[in-house]
Amino acid sequence: VDRFEPNLRIPGPTALPPTVRTAGARQMINHRGPEFAAMLARILEGMKPFFGTTSDVAMITTAGSGGLEAAIVNTLSPGDRVLGVSIGAFGDRFAKIAKIYGAEVTKLDAEWGYAADADEIRERLRSLPGTKAVLLTHNETSTGVMNPIAELAAAIRAETPDALILVDSVSGLGAVPFDMDGWGVDVVVTGSQKAWMAAPGLAMIAASPRAWAAMERATMPRFYLDLREHRDAAAGGETPFTPAIAVAFQVDEGLRIMQAEGAANIFARHEACAAATRAGLAALGFELFADERHYSRTVTAATVPDGFDWKAFNGEAKGRGLVLAGGQGKLTGKIFRLGHLGSVTLEEILGAISTLEVVSLQGGRAVEPGAAVAAAQRAALAAYGIAALAVAGTGA
Ligand SMILES: Cc1ncc(COP(=O)(O)O)c(C=O)c1O
Repeated sequence: VDRFEPNLRIPGPTALPPTVRTAGARQMINHRGPEFAAMLARILEGMKPFFGTTSDVAMITTAGSGGLEAAIVNTLSPGDRVLGVSIGAFGDRFAKIAKIYGAEVTKLDAEWGYAADADEIRERLRSLPGTKAVLLTHNETSTGVMNPIAELAAAIRAETPDALILVDSVSGLGAVPFDMDGWGVDVVVTGSQKAWMAAPGLAMIAASPRAWAAMERATMPRFYLDLREHRDAAAGGETPFTPAIAVAFQVDEGLRIMQAEGAANIFARHEACAAATRAGLAALGFELFADERHYSRTVTAATVPDGFDWKAFNGEAKGRGLVLAGGQGKLTGKIFRLGHLGSVTLEEILGAISTLEVVSLQGGRAVEPGAAVAAAQRAALAAYGIAALAVAGTGA
């Protein structure tokens, strides 16, 4: 298998387009010089339309979780009342960070596989007067569910106009539309290794004017993650600390590719790939894990059937170059996940479904050769027309 490029279908890190890989191999530059300053400005400005904001964006060298920590420690104080709305493992993590830093966190948990419910959030907020922040996950990577952030944010705004809305969109932003300013969201966090088709190492965080103001009052301890330092340094073309320059080269190139493709085409490609994945997996006899009203458009989770030898199945798939993700936390061994975000093409999804079909046949499962691939292709074409096929990736 090492003769081939693997079909890396985990929900991040995502596969790197050729020019992004080359960008990451470049010689280092002075991060206090004009070349870096120009690149930093391109990245921060280039990301704003994907956040849907005209407000300042900060870029920090850290994993996505560091970005979530930054969202918490910059805007809150110990003792602050926080509602942590969780629909899976990453929602749990966001709430845990707030708790560790001394916030008074109330959890509102949805059953895994379901999105959060706006009415339930409103009701819970009614019993929590003075709530300072509500934590939301945009795309819950552990369950393959995408929360309707516009609707949830509107409900929160209506109930507690002063509460900050902090959103983890580590695995959503850049792949699907997001309108931070229009929806009244205060902080949004994303990570380089997801839709941005770069290596892990950079988190980008956008904050609303309200959130920037809250940072002046918040008293949770922070040093490296102080977003005001990052914003002020960026105004002078720098980062406060030595940045992951190689990853920044990659994000810069990834954004160039994304801008050439255009946001609308990117979003349509992700929808087409998601539709194809769902149809293909269903045709192979797998039950989709997420509530059909809130399927993620960047990762699809399927239930491992009772008595099904997932380990052997996954081993065979891996041997054929297809890399899938298993379940996380309490879903370990119960689901598997197929990522379709970043540089993903419909052809790669059809290839993944084809591999799963062959592995199924090999394992003696009753599937008809080619049927799942046909179902996947038909689903993408039915929803998005032949245009879905025309957008073949990076346009490099
Ligand atoms: C929704 C979500 N939040 C947070 C994270 C954490 O990101 P990282 O692993 O870079 O810390 C991930 C990573 O998979 C994620 O998918």
